[in-house]
Amino acid sequence: MLDTPNRVAVEAPPLEGVESTKAPVRVSRPNLLTVADAKTMSLVDMTELFKDHINPGQLHFMKLLGFHKVKIETASGMYYTDQNGRKILDFFGGFGSLAFGHNHPRIIEARKQFQNEDRHEIAIAFMSQYASALAKNLAEIAPGDLDMVFLGSSGSEAMEAAIKVAERAAGPKRPKIVYAQNSFHGKTKGVLSLTDSELYRGEFQLTGNTVKVPFGDIDAIRAAFEADPEIGVIVLETIQGGGGIIEAPVEFWQQLRALCDKHGVLWIADEVQCGMGRSGHFFAFEKAGVVPDVTALAKSLGAGKCAMAAMIATRDVYMKAYGSPKTAMIHAQATFGGIGEACVTAIEGLNVMYDEDLIGNAEKVGSYLISRLNELKAKYPQIIKDVRGSGFMVGLEFQDFSQTLPALLRPMVALLDDKLKGSLSGFVGAELLRDHNVLVAFTEYNRNVIRLEPPLVCGTEHVDEFITALDKVLGRGIVRIVRDFIGSQAKK
Ligand SMILES: Cc1ncc(COP(=O)(O)O)c(C=O)c1O
Repeated sequence: MLDTPNRVAVEAPPLEGVESTKAPVRVSRPNLLTVADAKTMSLVDMTELFKDHINPGQLHFMKLLGFHKVKIETASGMYYTDQNGRKILDFFGGFGSLAFGHNHPRIIEARKQFQNEDRHEIAIAFMSQYASALAKNLAEIAPGDLDMVFLGSSGSEAMEAAIKVAERAAGPKRPKIVYAQNSFHGKTKGVLSLTDSELYRGEFQLTGNTVKVPFGDIDAIRAAFEADPEIGVIVLETIQGGGGIIEAPVEFWQQLRALCDKHGVLWIADEVQCGMGRSGHFFAFEKAGVVPDVTALAKSLGAGKCAMAAMIATRDVYMKAYGSPKTAMIHAQATFGGIGEACVTAIEGLNVMYDEDLIGNAEKVGSYLISRLNELKAKYPQIIKDVRGSGFMVGLEFQDFSQTLPALLRPMVALLDDKLKGSLSGFVGAELLRDHNVLVAFTEYNRNVIRLEPPLVCGTEHVDEFITALDKVLGRGIVRIVRDFIGSQAKK
C-alpha cells in the first residue's frame, strides 16, 4: 500500500497586530499525495487507488484484456512508453482525441509560452482574446453560415449545447428530436436520450420527445418528418463511431439536407469523433458538400493536451435561440468555457493541422491503411469480414466465430465474460498489445469490430508496423488465438 504520512495538525500562525482571545484554529492537513508521488507511483499502488477510488468494476475488463499490467510513463508522437521502457504503437488514439499525436512539440511550446507570460485563464468577467480567436478560427474553417461558437470542455457538453440551441430555434411547437439506431452522443442526462444504448441508459428517466430511425435510411426519416409535424430537430453522427464505423453515402446527406429544408427541421451533425480532419475532411459532412445547421467538435480540438469542445451553429439558429439581451445568458459560457490555455492549445492545434497538412495525410495514409487491411482480408477471409471507413476512422470487422469454433473450445469460451463471447476483437486486441506492443480500440455496440483511429501524424511506416503485427496475430488462426487467450486468463 501507499506509504503516506499520518495527518499532521497545523496551527494557523497569529496575524500580526491582531490580538485574539480565541484559541488558535487547528487545521489538520489531510494525507495528500504530491505530484512527485503520482509520477513515481508503482503499478500495484495505482491499481489499488483505481479500485478504491475510481472504478473497481472497470478493472475487471482491464484484467480481461491484460491492460492492467501497463503503466504509461511517457508518450511522444505515435507511441506510449510504459514502466518497462516498452514502446506501444497507438492505433487507438483516444477514440479520436489525438489528431496531433502525443505531445506535439508546437503545442507544448504554445502552452509553455502562455504559462511563462502569466496569461489569465478564467474568462467569465471579461471577454477573452483567446476564446474570440478560437471562435473566429472555427467559424473560418466551418463552411456556410456556421459562425457562432459555444466553447465547452467535453463532447457531451458540446452536444448538450447543440440540442439546446436547436430546440430553442425550432420553437416550442416542434419539440421532437429524431436520432439514429446505434448512435452515441454522450452520457450526460440530456444527450442520453439520443444515445441508443440500453447499457448507458440504465434505468435513467429519458426525455421522451424522441423518435428513433435506422442510420442512413432516408425513407425512414422522410416518413418520420411527414408523420409528425412536431419534429423540429434531427441529430446524427456523420460517421457512427460507437456503432462500429458506419457511414452513409454522400447522396444520403444531400437528400437529408433537402428534406430538412423542406420540412423546416434543423440538422445537428455530431462531429465529436469524426471531425477535426479524421475522415480526410475537416468535417466529415464536407464530403457530401452540404452544411448542417449545428455541429459539435471535441476530442482532438484539445490537441491531446487539454479538454476543449465547441458547438458551432449558424448565425440564424443562434440568434433565434439566444440573440437578444433577454435570452443571451440562457446558455452562455460555463465556468471553464473558453479557458485561456485550452483556447491557445486549440488555436495552435488548428494552425498545425493546416501547416502540416494533417487532413491530407489522414486521407492519403488512411487509404493506404485500408488497402493494407484489404490485403489481410483477402489472406484471411475466414477471419476478417469487412474493412471500412474514411481517412483515419477505420473499422475492421471480424467474422462471428461463435458458430465456427471447434467443439472442444466452445465450453471454454462459454465461461468467458459476455463481452468476449463470439467476438474476436477482444482476443486480437489483447494479443496485439501483449505480444506486439500495439494498442487498438474496441467498439461499444459491435464487439466484432476493432476501431482504428491513429493520430493524423501517422505515417506509412506506422501502418506497416501495425499490419505486420496484425498479420502475425491472425496468421496463428482463430483456434490458437482463442486458446492462447484462454490460457493467459488461466495463468492470472
Ligand atoms: C460522436 C460522439 N459524440 C459525443 C461524444 C461524447 O464526448 P465526451 O466523451 O467528450 O463527452 C462522443 C464520445 O466518444 C462521441 O464519440
